[in-house]
Amino acid sequence: MNNLDLSSRTTSADEKRLRNSTATYGLIAVLFHWTIALLFIAQLALGYLMSGDDVDPALQFNLFQYHKSIGFVVLALAIPRVIWSMLSTKPHPPAGTGRVAHIGARLAHAALLFLTVAVPLAGWAVVSTSPLQIPSYVFDIVVIPGLPLEISDASEALWTDVHETLAYLAAAIVLLHVAAAVWHHVIRKDVTLKRMMPLVSRRKSAK
Ligand code: HEM
Ligand code: HEM
Repeated sequence: MNNLDLSSRTTSADEKRLRNSTATYGLIAVLFHWTIALLFIAQLALGYLMSGDDVDPALQFNLFQYHKSIGFVVLALAIPRVIWSMLSTKPHPPAGTGRVAHIGARLAHAALLFLTVAVPLAGWAVVSTSPLQIPSYVFDIVVIPGLPLEISDASEALWTDVHETLAYLAAAIVLLHVAAAVWHHVIRKDVTLKRMMPLVSRRKSAK
């Protein structure tokens, strides 16, 4: 009986560490955040570098394949992450955060959640509409079929514009987002960045 009680207490403490509370982000949100953030920033850099005019064509081909592979991984992680985020409690802003700053942060988070799905989807549309029809592999493991869209130069040009515009819009929001995180940590010295860190104890701050 005692054992049963103990195991149910452990489960509930573990659950608290995994899920968000009004005080902090849970481990699942933290792992989603940093995995997607690192891959997304790498993709912005890779996309920019591989699209340069003076890149060797053989290297450029390989970089495109890596860009597509990593992009599909981001998409596969971003969809469950959006659902998890929508179902989760949102940690309250740290004491002293103004209303405008709070609304601004919420809008930026919503935009970033949307863009981590929309940017790779638009990239997928680029390769699906390209008359070249180069197969898209995820690291030579699985082939991803094209989206059911019109295949033509005009359609490819349109989706290329959408992909680029959304990617650079995301880059601008990420810059503001990172600046805000640094400002909270260095100037305001509050818990904003710490509660998104994987090694900070969640048990104490979880409510
Ligand atoms: C995490 C998601 C992604 C990000 C952040 C991203 C970002 C970028 C960026 C910044 C560029 C350079 C735009 C330019 O300056 O010309 C680019 C180009 C490109 N991306 Fe992505 N991308 C992502 C996912 C994907 C996916 C999933 C695919 C395809 C399956 C893809 C296909 C392409 C292609 C084909 C180009 C070259 C377009 C051109 O002809 O200029 N991207 N991407
Ligand atoms: C070095 C880069 C980054 C840092 C330091 C950082 C920091 C943070 C911090 C401290 C929070 C919690 C904010 C709060 O409680 O109000 C947060 C949340 C969030 N961040 Fe970042 N971030 C970075 C990169 C990114 C990137 C690249 C993306 C997406 C492309 C992103 C998307 C989000 C989202 C959507 C949230 C809301 C929480 C959630 O739904 O999981 N972040 N970030």
